[in-house]
Amino acid sequence: MKHELETFFKPKSIAVVGASKNSTKIGNAALKNILISDYECKVYPINPHEKEILGIKCYKKLSDVPGEIELVLISVPAKIVPQIMKECVQKKVKNAIIISSGFSEAGNNELENEVKDIIEQSKIRVLGPNTMGYKNAADGLDSSFVFGVPRKGILSLISQSGALGIGMIYLANNEFVGISKIIGVGNKIDIDDDDLIDYFAQDNDTKVIGLYIEAVKNGRAFMNSIKACNKPVLVVKAGKSEAGARATSSHTGSMAGSDKIYDAAIKQAGGIRCRDIVELFDMARALAGQPPAQGNRIGIITNGGGLGILLTDACDANGLDVPKLSPKTYKKIDKILPDLVKPNNPIDLVADAGFYRYEASTRALLEDPNINGIIVASVHGGYARPREFTGAILKMIRERKLHEEFKKPILATWVGGKEFEDLVMDLKSAGVPIYPSSWRTARSMLALYMEGKRIKREMK
Ligand code: COA
Repeated sequence: MKHELETFFKPKSIAVVGASKNSTKIGNAALKNILISDYECKVYPINPHEKEILGIKCYKKLSDVPGEIELVLISVPAKIVPQIMKECVQKKVKNAIIISSGFSEAGNNELENEVKDIIEQSKIRVLGPNTMGYKNAADGLDSSFVFGVPRKGILSLISQSGALGIGMIYLANNEFVGISKIIGVGNKIDIDDDDLIDYFAQDNDTKVIGLYIEAVKNGRAFMNSIKACNKPVLVVKAGKSEAGARATSSHTGSMAGSDKIYDAAIKQAGGIRCRDIVELFDMARALAGQPPAQGNRIGIITNGGGLGILLTDACDANGLDVPKLSPKTYKKIDKILPDLVKPNNPIDLVADAGFYRYEASTRALLEDPNINGIIVASVHGGYARPREFTGAILKMIRERKLHEEFKKPILATWVGGKEFEDLVMDLKSAGVPIYPSSWRTARSMLALYMEGKRIKREMK
């Protein structure tokens, strides 16, 4: 059976109420975004004063539109919204997006409650108010008024902040993280985080779910949705500090609540709490491109002792173990190291490590059942050969695909400057997560370990 939000994300017909010829208006941008989408559907501009907008026939009101409307975008001043919602209900519109601001976030609770009452007496599903809408990159539909074209991928993002949502589109492109859907929930008058987690859980185009939240309206439903979700759920929860909580209230009109309670609830439900947006993308990149870690035992390979120690500390601080090497692995690595150096974990390949040392040590860890995840690191010191470092990783990723027993994550990290940057891009575009920080690498490995645990729980 199709999920009830299927017509919301994949409508056959869309009307824009408040569509305008004026290119500076949001109603013009929203209509244009739908028209330039690579998506097949009927489009109806609604404006009482126009006959045609952007070359399409314009209707005076929703009831004039012939046939069904599956989605309505509303971009008229807040005070007219209740009237438009009544017209939507009369027309039996399935879904609506209220872009307009001027509701609870501006202290206008009465107006918001008026709209809520109209919705509750009908079957219509409503996003917003005070929202940017959504972009469905998987199907090519842009039902938002904002710029930014996400690269197609498997991360679906839910953002309580519109501006941050837009920023996340650009950040995702920069970080080579593909997006399936990105949606701004605004004041969450009806469609809430839990509805969207449930939808993305069954959406074949979504593999990882990310949320930016300031407050949750129904804590129980939120937790239940994360618990029931068969995919990793990454959560950035803002408003941790007292001052941050105050800012939350004026941004979306919501109460940030006790951070400790949120933290415990997200953990208990099996979600992964991220410290910020960059961490969400770091973790999403790892979860999208790598298999989960089946345990917390991590092998570290480096050409710089200092970086190896930093990685070990970062792993330890995040509950990841860096165990001693098994005798078998010790022997394999001992053979490839210069005579004066002995293998350890972190494995120090020494400053002049080239392709072969990286390749052979990564293979040894892939073959070792005592290791669940691998971090390969390079410091761009005097002797380092970055191309050989990235080449070895790409080769091992290819080899891993051929062996079922090699199914463990490989993450990379580096310390260096410009010369390294193009090579980093090679890895990123091949879906290999690489981070310019030992802490970020360890946190992303933690996400892979937590995902491994979630899958084990699911299979019980
Ligand atoms: N049905 C259809 N269209 C109607 C209408 C009705 N009943 N009543 C008026 N309109 C038309 C207007 O005539 C106008 O078209 P025009 O340009 O051809 O005159 C259009 O709807 C828009 O109305 P207008 O009064 O010009 O409003 P606006 O475009 O300046 O602002 C909003 C409307 C919704 C954009 C604005 O109120 C708002 O909320 N802005 C903030 C949105 C936002 O940031 N949201 C959150 C993002 S995260």
